[in-house]
Amino acid sequence: MKDIISINDFSKSDILEILRLAKEMEDNSNQMILDDFVLGTLFYEPSTRTRLSFEAAMQRLHGRVIGFADSNTSSVSKGESLVDTIRIVEQYCDIIVIRHPTEGAARLAAETASIPVINAGDGSNQHPTQTLIDLYTILKSRGSLDNLNIGFVGDLKYGRTVHSLATALSLFDSKMSFIAPEDLQIPKDYLDMHNNGEYRKSESLSEIMPSLDILYVTRIQKERFQDPMEYERFKGIYRIDRQSLLHAKKSLKIMHPLPRVDEISTEIDLTDHALYFEQAKNGIPVRQALLRLLLKK
Ligand code: CP
Repeated sequence: MKDIISINDFSKSDILEILRLAKEMEDNSNQMILDDFVLGTLFYEPSTRTRLSFEAAMQRLHGRVIGFADSNTSSVSKGESLVDTIRIVEQYCDIIVIRHPTEGAARLAAETASIPVINAGDGSNQHPTQTLIDLYTILKSRGSLDNLNIGFVGDLKYGRTVHSLATALSLFDSKMSFIAPEDLQIPKDYLDMHNNGEYRKSESLSEIMPSLDILYVTRIQKERFQDPMEYERFKGIYRIDRQSLLHAKKSLKIMHPLPRVDEISTEIDLTDHALYFEQAKNGIPVRQALLRLLLKK
């Protein structure tokens, strides 16, 4: 595998092998194995976790990092095309991580570059490295990716982390529930990828809550709405607080790719339900495993 562009490109055994390597990296995250390599991070959209954890992952393996966090500070602002930018940057580094607002941009970058390209999010489409982090977090917390009831709530239409994770989970024997108003439901394309997936849809979080082992909460993706009034209609529609968890299992774990706005009350942060900060921390070993694999170390 030269690039990481879509979770659809991974088999179940690929995924399990990456998660195994991530555990190895977590047990020894400071190794001098990428000291010959330079990572280029090209972020055409804002990021905190993805960019900084890729950079930290690389630096802790003694590699170096170049790139931009805001494309307005690069020659993109003068009209340089994505293809030209990639043709230039590939001469300065050994691997590229790219986040772009356009679906398919990472694929185009990978087809252009002779070095590995990692998709750090392309529009509403996919966020495959977040998915591997999410799977690693579930596996660490529950000991398995099978026989779980996993609920997704929020903006399932535009949330790329949901699209990638639902696709990956359909390779395993867990049940998925998609909780959203009809206009924000997960597009059918992401449900038909594999045969194993068993799922239900609902607008009611309270109806589904008692059965859940994992609740994956997402932000309403304000930046993806064409019409600001549509965003106003949906913002704040689901909010997780102590009251909403009254009928949840004691063992329920709550995940969120972050950033959150107001969909999880901070009163949840110190409860045993909160898994989202550990989820973000797991970005380091999982991304170290990916850098190591693609740089063949
Ligand atoms: N989870 C995630 O993609 O976070 P950032 O947008 O901060 O990178």
